[in-house]
Amino acid sequence: MPGFELFGDLERKEVNDVLDNGVLMRYGFDGMRKGHWKAKALESELAQTFNSKHVQLVSSGTAAVSVALASAGVGAGDEVIMPTFTFVASFEAIMMLGAVPVLVDIDDTLTLDPKAVENAITSKTKAVMVVQMCGSMGHMDALRTICTKHNLIFVEDACQAIGGSYKGKPLGSIADVGCFSFDFVKTITCGEGGAVVTNNKNYYNNADHYSDHGHDHVGNDRGAESHPFLGYNFRISELNAAVGLAQVRRLPEFIKIQKRNYSIIREALSKIPEVTFRTVPEGGEESYAFLNFFLPDLEFARQVSQSFKDNGIDACFHYYDNNWHYIRKWDHLKELKSLYPISNEVREGLQYLKNKTFEQSDAYIARNISCLIKLSWTEEEVGQRAEKMAAIIKSI
Ligand SMILES: Cc1ncc(COP(=O)(O)O)c(C=O)c1O
Repeated sequence: MPGFELFGDLERKEVNDVLDNGVLMRYGFDGMRKGHWKAKALESELAQTFNSKHVQLVSSGTAAVSVALASAGVGAGDEVIMPTFTFVASFEAIMMLGAVPVLVDIDDTLTLDPKAVENAITSKTKAVMVVQMCGSMGHMDALRTICTKHNLIFVEDACQAIGGSYKGKPLGSIADVGCFSFDFVKTITCGEGGAVVTNNKNYYNNADHYSDHGHDHVGNDRGAESHPFLGYNFRISELNAAVGLAQVRRLPEFIKIQKRNYSIIREALSKIPEVTFRTVPEGGEESYAFLNFFLPDLEFARQVSQSFKDNGIDACFHYYDNNWHYIRKWDHLKELKSLYPISNEVREGLQYLKNKTFEQSDAYIARNISCLIKLSWTEEEVGQRAEKMAAIIKSI
């Protein structure tokens, strides 16, 4: 991560195609386009990349999660099980539909603990959303078994894990419906953008219509299209899709660089007895977007995190003290601070967060450091960085 580090002629050419014909919208204006349909072209490239039947591009990863859930019929009062360690977008996207996020503990994969998921199921549970955090994955087989047993929709947020795989299948393509983000800091970027990925034709049709005001996209006269159901605008623009089109073609190159850089740092840190690494389920291969490791305790991790910062080792996150990614600091969610009135169902559904503690999640996140792997580092730079990181950890 992230693809923006390597923008070049390919991105420029795709964007210039769009500017040359002037059609920035993904639908309609067939005559003016000179054959350029960047969003459609990106959807078919992504379908190949993810080995999936259907892809619907949307305006962001957050939109992708909302659209995916809506397309699967999740709505008012339904409970969606999600992990305590994720990005705030996960609960935002659920609450936007009037549904209730049910946060449960993570394990050493750094995402859903299957036991915690099973314990959280109630008669209101409609979906389980695994979040493939920091380039790796959850126990996909165990989670699938739980979803099948309880007749729940299995959702995969792979926004941070493009390029990873499990038992040969691309992350994001394994659950009933998958979500990706192509925001500015992701492995491949559109500037802003996201995608819903599925083999379910019905979910796909719903996503296609719902993300464009409910338009059925039949024919080529937008004004004459009918609206089988209500929708919103989560469209991506042709300009954003054009950037993504160039970037997705470079994904294998990006993953190769990430893997090289990740491996150099991991090799250096693996010689330190105090360092252990996150569990990657058997059959899984990370995207190498981050290197996650555990230290003996919270105090040790805090000191390493501070010392990394003081010594110029950037982009290494200690999420225990971070506002974006871990439940501990999400007071705005716990206190339900909203600009507008929230429905009683959601208000009551979230009462549990006022007093609930997550000791198991705390135990992992307190000890975890998550280091972003950049694409622009030279091999020599990564080597020096790895040595410096190892020296800092040994000095604590
Ligand atoms: C796990 C996860 N889900 C969803 C999102 C939301 O993506 P976007 O920024 O494109 O809305 C992000 C963004 O960082 C993310 O990390």
